[in-house]
Amino acid sequence: MKATMTLDQHFKIAEVDKRIYGSFIEHLGRAVYGGIYEPDHPNSDEQGFRQDVIDLVKELNVPIVRYPGGNMVSAYNWEDGVGPKEDRPRRLELAWRTIETNEVGTNEFVDWAKKVNADVMMAVNLGTRGIDAARNLIEYTNHPSGTYYSDLRRKHGYEQPHNIKTWCLGNEMDGPWQVGHKTAYEYGRLANETGKAMKLVDPDIELVACGSSNTNMPTFPEYEATTLDLSYDTVDYISLHQYYGNRSNDTANYLAKNLDMDHFIKTVTATCDYIKAKHRSKKTINLSFDEWNVWYHSNEQDQQIEPWSIAPPQLEDHYNFEDALLVGSMLITFLQHADRVKMAAMAQLVNVIAPIMTENGGGSFKQTIFYPYMHTSVFGRGVSLKPILNVPKYDSKDFTDVPYLDAAAVHNEEEEALTIFIVNKHLTDAMPLDIDLRSFEGYKLVEHIELYHDDVKAVNTMAHEAVKPSLNNATTFELGQLSAQLKKTSWNVIRLR
Ligand code: AHR
Repeated sequence: MKATMTLDQHFKIAEVDKRIYGSFIEHLGRAVYGGIYEPDHPNSDEQGFRQDVIDLVKELNVPIVRYPGGNMVSAYNWEDGVGPKEDRPRRLELAWRTIETNEVGTNEFVDWAKKVNADVMMAVNLGTRGIDAARNLIEYTNHPSGTYYSDLRRKHGYEQPHNIKTWCLGNEMDGPWQVGHKTAYEYGRLANETGKAMKLVDPDIELVACGSSNTNMPTFPEYEATTLDLSYDTVDYISLHQYYGNRSNDTANYLAKNLDMDHFIKTVTATCDYIKAKHRSKKTINLSFDEWNVWYHSNEQDQQIEPWSIAPPQLEDHYNFEDALLVGSMLITFLQHADRVKMAAMAQLVNVIAPIMTENGGGSFKQTIFYPYMHTSVFGRGVSLKPILNVPKYDSKDFTDVPYLDAAAVHNEEEEALTIFIVNKHLTDAMPLDIDLRSFEGYKLVEHIELYHDDVKAVNTMAHEAVKPSLNNATTFELGQLSAQLKKTSWNVIRLR
């Protein structure tokens, strides 16, 4: 078995929007309390933010972070989280059935995002609330001064507006589990009217409308079509969410699940363009894949959680090596659709289905999925190229013609750097790969990084980082021809300059 690839710098898909490397912090479990914020921790700064977590997030080079939910936002009163901390109410948090102390709110989160060099993608509550709360919130965050809510922000110690540019109009409104769940018609009308009011306050913002919570929703893709039909001129992006798991312990089938993601992206793109045609519009709606990851390891354990506790460990998936491979393939899928997927958010960032884990009062560590996320975020900025790949295929329980290799390439023209990302899904065999790179004259091989472990179920813990990258020094590059031996079940990053 052998594979070949041709890469040409003129085979361009699109410039990669760096926001595809976004992430997500929800008021859920230990993401905020015990994750990014732990005032009693010895490593915390003057605002109570953990410095070890800030450092790890900076390593990931996360450009934008979605906040404050998630399901949580659908019953959230943003006013509870601003002003003097001692006056902030404790509330029943209905989505996850915990107590929300509101010690962290909008202003603190904006401060934290600055510390990690990220922008904020803010979600408004369209479950229990609507136009009024959303227009007040954006007046609070984005209006300079001289009005009730902008002056309230200044009174709270924030003289300058936060100028938050990207806003989500609610969260997963198609899901019956959502507080304030809505039909597509109800949601489309509300999203349009809320978005209109928000853009009257600040015309420079960008709006993301909710689409389907996953490809199995019975209303997919009609939910997207109806929503966009009712809000086409107001919104700028449509949201996609998708989580995968390996519940049947079938690794070959599990590693193929990014094909479902590919189908999801193609279907939503087609739906956007159908509504564009219907409206005779010149405007193109792009995709915001603002929740994606592996999520299943913690499902059973989460059934045991005592209701109405404060920041219990929830959704704490401990990721293994095969999860890192699927995460790598999902990131490759975004790069293959760089022309339409302009934002994405790995859900989530700390403790809750996250690449970063902490111990309350203790240390922090990198989960297996940290690495493909970091490699693509750090090296995957530039123009996404279309690899011409000849590769053997396999069939699995749910998929046919699954290529053993997934590949994407990003050319940073300014820095004259080319990075190729490849997952080998073969469970038993290494894959020899020859890449024709003759259009990259003068480039030299910098390194071939690989993430590999003999056991696909290997996990990282606080005590031991079993899965971490190493160098493959056997790869060669001569006369425009790169030759590599990709280990069975491996994540590969080949860098040239
Ligand atoms: O990320 C965890 C949850 O998954 C989010 O709150 C929700 O939007 C989705 O169902």
